[in-house]
Amino acid sequence: MNHSASPAPSARPAGAEPVLKVRGLVVRYGDRTVLDGIDMTVARGEIRVILGGSGSGKSTALKGILGLTEIARGEVELLGQPMVGLAEAQRLQLMQRVGVLFQNGALFGSLTVGENVALPLREHRKLPQGAVRELVRSKLAMVGLAHAEFLYPAELSGGMRKRAGLARALALDPEVLFCDEPSAGLDPLTSLNLDNLILQLRDRLQMTVVVVTHELASIEGIADSLLMVGGGKVIAEGPVAEVRQRGIAEVDEFFARKARVSTSTDCSAAELFGLVASASSGGA
Ligand SMILES: Nc1ncnc2c1ncn2[C@@H]1O[C@H](COP(=O)(O)OP(=O)(O)OP(=O)(O)O)[C@@H](O)[C@H]1O
Ligand SMILES: [Mg+2]
Repeated sequence: MNHSASPAPSARPAGAEPVLKVRGLVVRYGDRTVLDGIDMTVARGEIRVILGGSGSGKSTALKGILGLTEIARGEVELLGQPMVGLAEAQRLQLMQRVGVLFQNGALFGSLTVGENVALPLREHRKLPQGAVRELVRSKLAMVGLAHAEFLYPAELSGGMRKRAGLARALALDPEVLFCDEPSAGLDPLTSLNLDNLILQLRDRLQMTVVVVTHELASIEGIADSLLMVGGGKVIAEGPVAEVRQRGIAEVDEFFARKARVSTSTDCSAAELFGLVASASSGGA
């Protein structure tokens, strides 16, 4: 396995309450049906990976779940609240308990990295300036961007933008974190550090994480369970090892192909970010 420095994913507590329930999710763009009846259930503290080919609707699924794209049919329950028909004010309230890292990072170009991360804190928490600054620094340290606080997004690499987006998604210490391809474009060591951060967030803070990724090393290193989508449907859902034993052609093909192209990475625990301290102190 590539993630020799990663702790093995710890099993989520048996019978943990579902944090996300999706039933019969249908999303259409015009007359094109992209998702045609998706079901999934994610328990608290679970790290769920969403897999599927490019254009299969993974980002669309996240947007549908979060109420950012219109759902044609189906039900979504997030943190015990039905999302469909939820008033905008309530949706925004609920979203304070949810962190989202969009595929493109979605930073505000006219604000520095630090100001981007501070934004949700200023909007939703009444905190003195100094406390905001401290939280911003702790979140940036978590993603290895302590040095980038005063840079503008245009001055960052693609991978740094991703990590800045993640720091912003973590600003309010969300109960659930949605990440759309957090490791895309990252070097193997940075990617491994991000995976370890996700594991720490789950293990220390019981955060639930739903992550879209193609990275085999990430999947093997952090995922408790996976959902594979294709042709608008669920191809497979369940614990990773169990799903891989089912002999589903698309799943076998994905893992076989990825295994051939994946790169190997090795690093000691000492090389990792100081995540444990940041994750716990930042969560206060
Ligand atoms: N706003 C939109 N309007 C119209 N079509 C869209 C829109 N967003 C996505 N699509 C289409 O829906 C399909 C699914 O797109 P989506 O971005 O969800 O795929 P994805 O699985 O996230 O792909 P990738 O791995 O490349 O990110 C694609 O065919 C895309 O062209
Ligand atoms: Mg996508």
